[in-house]
Amino acid sequence: MRIGILTGGGDCPGLNAVLRAVVRRSVKEYGSEVVGFLEGFRGVIENMVMPLTMHSTGGLIHRGGTILRTSRTNPFKVERGPERIKENMEKHRLDALIVVGGEDTCGVANRLYKEHNLNLVCVPKTIDNDINATDVAFGFDTAVNIVAEALDRLHTTAESHNRVLVCEVMGRNAGWIACYGGIAGGADFILVPERPINLTAVINSIKQRHARGRDFSIVVVAEGAKFDDEQVNPEREVDAFGHVRLGGIGEILAKHIEKETGFETRSTTLGHIQRGGSPTAFDRVLATRYGVLAADLVHQKKFGTMVALHGNTLVDVPIEDAVNSLKTLDMDIYKVAEVFFG
Ligand code: F6P
Repeated sequence: MRIGILTGGGDCPGLNAVLRAVVRRSVKEYGSEVVGFLEGFRGVIENMVMPLTMHSTGGLIHRGGTILRTSRTNPFKVERGPERIKENMEKHRLDALIVVGGEDTCGVANRLYKEHNLNLVCVPKTIDNDINATDVAFGFDTAVNIVAEALDRLHTTAESHNRVLVCEVMGRNAGWIACYGGIAGGADFILVPERPINLTAVINSIKQRHARGRDFSIVVVAEGAKFDDEQVNPEREVDAFGHVRLGGIGEILAKHIEKETGFETRSTTLGHIQRGGSPTAFDRVLATRYGVLAADLVHQKKFGTMVALHGNTLVDVPIEDAVNSLKTLDMDIYKVAEVFFG
């Protein structure tokens, strides 16, 4: 077979491990060839390719980012986008395309499969962990570990200065990173997009903690968390999938906390640090398992599927199941975090 592969959407640690696994399995087990498209769907539309061999994908297991680079290109927003994808797949005599992406990229893949009959298999990636039909996407564990380590560091400086430190983390629609990272890093309050910010509850909780003799607090807030009455600012920049560029809630929250409690409060935004660098061992293994199964599914001609993790078992699910709705935070886990508020 001849197989194409692309990485789309925001990057995350583990993408290179998937490329390595897909190539290794396809070449060694099936004698197939793999071609990489550069910069997500932009590369398929504009015919930007590079051959991927066992040699060129060797030594990649620990490397963050993606050697194919990525973009948030939406082919359905590009003139003849889907048609050009089909033409370029034919030009390279491809039997299938493996799409490694989050909900937007897999959403596009689902439409290309259904509406344009393309042979596609998806691999779920996202630090946000909000893609449905799988328990975990790779990239999430690495981001959580980065947040936990950052909170450890914030703790020692917060304690030294008797400060409240607000840490803004990623998570556009889902509070998985905030909640897992916050629990692991011993946060004193966690705010997630799934629940409107109740400022009074935050303030009271911090005051209660300080009243029992703790002179510092750590608050974690997901970038997508919103105040009860917040309106989405229509002036904000949006991407090809219509998403507003987030960021800044930590700073706003810190100002409110300082004003209402009288405690000195500062904020730190972890931003893209959460997406950079080496994947954790967990993400390396998960990305590798996903890559091997994706290669197998292509060779079994099981198209329109996405690899997924259910418990500790790897399965395939219809792409459609993954992109119909977002997987928001399991609020039972939030309840565990709440035990440590205040
Ligand atoms: O979707 C993953 C994510 O990291 C979100 O948490 C965040 O809102 C967004 O990507 C940031 O995107 P960009 O890389 O375009 O700044």
